[in-house]
Amino acid sequence: MINLYNIDCMEALKEFKDNQFNLAIIDPPYGIGISGQKEVKKKRAQRNRSGAQNRKYHKEKKWDNEIPNKEYFKQLFRVSKNQIIWGANYFVEHLNKGKKGWVIWDKQQKGLWSSDGEIAYTSFNKPTRIFLQNRIILQQEGGTIHPTQKPVKLYEFLLMTYAKEGDKILEIGTGSGYQAAILSEIGCKVYSIERHRDLYLKAKKNLFDLNVSVKLFYGDGYLGLPDYSPFDKIIVTAGAPEVPDQLKKQLIIGGILVIPVGIGSQNMKVILKTGLNDYELISEYKNFKFVPLLRKKQ
Ligand SMILES: C[S@@+](CC[C@H](N)C(=O)[O-])C[C@H]1O[C@@H](n2cnc3c(N)ncnc32)[C@H](O)[C@@H]1O
Repeated sequence: MINLYNIDCMEALKEFKDNQFNLAIIDPPYGIGISGQKEVKKKRAQRNRSGAQNRKYHKEKKWDNEIPNKEYFKQLFRVSKNQIIWGANYFVEHLNKGKKGWVIWDKQQKGLWSSDGEIAYTSFNKPTRIFLQNRIILQQEGGTIHPTQKPVKLYEFLLMTYAKEGDKILEIGTGSGYQAAILSEIGCKVYSIERHRDLYLKAKKNLFDLNVSVKLFYGDGYLGLPDYSPFDKIIVTAGAPEVPDQLKKQLIIGGILVIPVGIGSQNMKVILKTGLNDYELISEYKNFKFVPLLRKKQ
């Protein structure tokens, strides 16, 4: 479903809840007076009539004289969990630090009046990616509806790379919350159980301080979380004497259970659920030493 709003975005943003959106992809005004583009195109058209045939002219409007203000970015980061922001080089003072995975659209043009490429900030800790889309070919394929519109193929790439729903993961043994934090940061929906009350409370504080979203439970991980099942993956981080049936049942078909099994030392088993009551051991790695998976909460 698509909801379209004909409203000043500053008014609309105020109405949205914190983290209401999983991903915001935005391309705000860069403050470079793009309305001048029309004049440049006209001059070129006089010089080169055949080159002008594929060009579209757009009504001049003065909407690109300044960049959005500080409040705009504050609201954007409040209402969305992740962001992709085109024109990032124009907004550096407003962008969060420490994220490495930016996106570059290489227009495969060099030294023309417009930039050789465009840069997007992303909030994802993923490798920086370069997307190649030749501007000339884009024009030949029908161009764009709006002068600053990004190519459809570029958006397909963004959505395929960044907008995937994360796996729903159950972790048994929260400990410090370290693994849960990493899983959450890479986009998984994480549920984690800890049997030790002090550890549960410490992990809760750690994750709150880090502003990481994980659903934590104080309880016996042997039982899993039937009310929240099925899970795509279940990761057990303590050595179990055998594979608990309860956990296997809480997997989705096609889901995977990773569990160290053994007393003293363990073998790490990777088990795939192939049917309602069918499971297949797909790999096994030897010689692990985890603390034991103990029954009942403490
Ligand atoms: C190796 S530590 C976990 C490390 C943790 N995943 C991390 O990233 O820091 C194992 C944890 O499993 C917990 N544990 C043991 N038996 C459990 C059970 N039945 N249910 C839930 N947690 C359990 C232990 O208290 C311990 O905190």
